Amino acid sequence: MQQTPASRLSANRARLGHKVRYALRHPGRVVPYLRRAGRDALLRLRHGGDHIAYYRAVMASDTARSPEAAVGGAASAERWLAIGQMQFDYLLAHGLRPQDRLLEIGCGNLRAGWRFIQHLDAGHYYGIDISPDILIEAKKTLVRYGLQDKLPYLTPVDDLKLDFLPDGAFTVVHAHSVFSHSPLHVIDECLAHVGRILAPGGFFDFTFDRTEAAEHQVLGEDFYYRTETLTRLAARHGLVARFMDDWERLPHGQSKLRVTHAVATTA
Ligand SMILES: C[S@@+](CC[C@H](N)C(=O)[O-])C[C@H]1O[C@@H](n2cnc3c(N)ncnc32)[C@H](O)[C@@H]1O
Repeated sequence: MQQTPASRLSANRARLGHKVRYALRHPGRVVPYLRRAGRDALLRLRHGGDHIAYYRAVMASDTARSPEAAVGGAASAERWLAIGQMQFDYLLAHGLRPQDRLLEIGCGNLRAGWRFIQHLDAGHYYGIDISPDILIEAKKTLVRYGLQDKLPYLTPVDDLKLDFLPDGAFTVVHAHSVFSHSPLHVIDECLAHVGRILAPGGFFDFTFDRTEAAEHQVLGEDFYYRTETLTRLAARHGLVARFMDDWERLPHGQSKLRVTHAVATTA
């Protein structure tokens, strides 16, 4: 049974000591890290404090090099398939039905999306992403898997207000490895609005990089949160967040929360 190792939960990757120890353990990763840090510094300078514009530029640069790596770090087709399968199998085990209406936030190049689209009735999948470059790759994935008849929606966005989507439209909302790249104000915006588009009884699953130490971020790209920060944020927007223990058993470094409408209790 896979569990997140304690060392992973207590590490603060922003600290110099952590970086030095990591570099000594993985000397081959030092030059790529420095190259990435340099590029990110330039992009941050160009986009000021606008995280979405900055991260969109990161995605454009990463996608140009490798769409598989842009959504998952390692540029391997096997890993791309395996992580998509893991997301799909998990939701299937949690009862995903063809008639569900699924919104995928940060759908990338449809690593999991193509499997959702294949499973769902035509027109029942909606993918949104801040990166036009990765959405062009998503279109290629649709063609590769022959999913044209499923008529999925793919839309670029520049915020998570979800204001262009109808009330109560989605029974399932899914965001995998998106909040692991999001500052808290982006997550807050999403939680402030997701309740409106969630159908009664629907749920919103998202993964996040969990820490049990101080919350921190690396290069403005990777963000580490304590579970209670996110559950409290959800509560502030009238939502209930539940930690998904069964996800922890899977070979994936992130944790998962499931958010639902708070059910009114009768006295
Ligand atoms: C690590 S990739 C994961 C993609 C996909 N969920 C998957 O599992 O393959 C993160 C994706 O989220 C998108 N993204 C990041 N922040 C976002 C935001 N605030 N709103 C929508 N998409 C976002 C990125 O452009 C990228 O495509």
